[in-house]
Amino acid sequence: MKFYLLIALTLLTAPMLAHADDDPMLKVAQENACMTCHAVDQKIIGPAFRTVAARFRNTPDAANYLFTRLQDGSVGDWGQIPMPPNPQADPADLHRLVQWVLAQ
Ligand code: HEC
Repeated sequence: MKFYLLIALTLLTAPMLAHADDDPMLKVAQENACMTCHAVDQKIIGPAFRTVAARFRNTPDAANYLFTRLQDGSVGDWGQIPMPPNPQADPADLHRLVQWVLAQ
């Protein structure tokens, strides 16, 4: 009986463990539609997150600045194509997304 329980537990946790290899923040970014306009290492409609991270690496308070840009929308930092505001997004998610972008 204990043996079967162990097998069942292994089968249950295996997919979760496999998932932990993926970047969990990528999922949050996908859920918030960021990845329709962005990619980590190439420009799509918006700049590559790696390029954003490089540009803001030495900017004091970059995290707060980018958080505001995400909430209110952004235009003019990278060109004339605007990023729409995200008033419906969970602010906690936006903070985590900014940290994630800056870590690329
Ligand atoms: C409709 C397309 C679109 C979506 C959706 C989008 N972005 Fe953007 N993003 C852009 C564009 C275009 C820019 C460049 C705006 C500018 O020039 O200031 C940008 C800029 C940025 C910047 C740099 C801002 C700045 O002021 O320099 C960050 C960080 C960013 N996006 C992160 C995100 C995250 C995180 C999400 C998801 C919550 C997201 N974007 C969703 C198009 C998009």
